[in-house]
Amino acid sequence: MSKHIKEVSRLIRENERLVVLTGAGMSVESGIAPFRGENGLWQEFDAQKYAHIESYRQDPERSWELFRLQIEEIYDAEPHQGHEALVKMEEEGLTEVITQNIDGLHQKAGSSQVLELHGTLFTLFCPDCEREYNTSEFIEEVRENRCPRCECGTILRPDAVLFGEQLPQDTVNRSLKAAEGCDLMMVVGTSAVVQPAASLPVQAKRTGATVVEINLESTPLTSDVTDLFIKGKAREVLKNIAEKLYHQLFSSQISS
Ligand code: APR
Ligand code: ZN
Repeated sequence: MSKHIKEVSRLIRENERLVVLTGAGMSVESGIAPFRGENGLWQEFDAQKYAHIESYRQDPERSWELFRLQIEEIYDAEPHQGHEALVKMEEEGLTEVITQNIDGLHQKAGSSQVLELHGTLFTLFCPDCEREYNTSEFIEEVRENRCPRCECGTILRPDAVLFGEQLPQDTVNRSLKAAEGCDLMMVVGTSAVVQPAASLPVQAKRTGATVVEINLESTPLTSDVTDLFIKGKAREVLKNIAEKLYHQLFSSQISS
């Protein structure tokens, strides 16, 4: 792996505009289950039954069985050194983190340029009167298996995008612009099977970017789009890259 760490550090140093696309694999080492593969959420929950906009409308309380588990999992989750490495890269010029994750860990670590393609679990809204709330206002209800309700009485839902729903158009446009404007895209911990996220690296490549992929296993991107595939865990690989780039970022850092 060290040959690859050297290579990707060189690429980051030599390229102006770095964009990072992250998926659930970025949060696994913070204790959050991925959706697919080993211990994937979709093995326990039928995505179409619990996380599709139509099934939500039919039975919001059933969908809240999934939302509750996700909210409890992310509520106490802490970012890891891989998230911190991306914060350091942002200080050094990384332009954007585009994330499919709804766990807020990039922001919790200190990243400020984060595009949340699939929304977030940290805010809720009322499908009827559109009032917005912070999830933290309802953490008791969530923990006591009760569905949070709006002042108007309707069951609230998370600001996370459900299957069958449009993604926030402004975020999609900004993500596409970032992908087309970058010289280097690092794709970390995504199975690259959900659109439009999965086409961002394709678009980046088409407009001249080099694509580096960090994952435990290959994905549909690996053979045709990825220029440099680094097999490994997000935390360790990103930590090693940051240490290579900024010399002993973590080991000498006085723990606050
Ligand atoms: N380090 C790096 N990669 C990892 C790690 C790790 N520690 N653990 C798992 N992975 C990889 C897996 O090999 C897999 O390729 O992360 C990927 C996780 O894939 P998914 O669970 O499908 O997550 P993601 O690609 O983000 O899913 C996209 O699908 O269900 C929807 O809206 C949901 O945002 C999600 C979207
Ligand atoms: Zn309401």
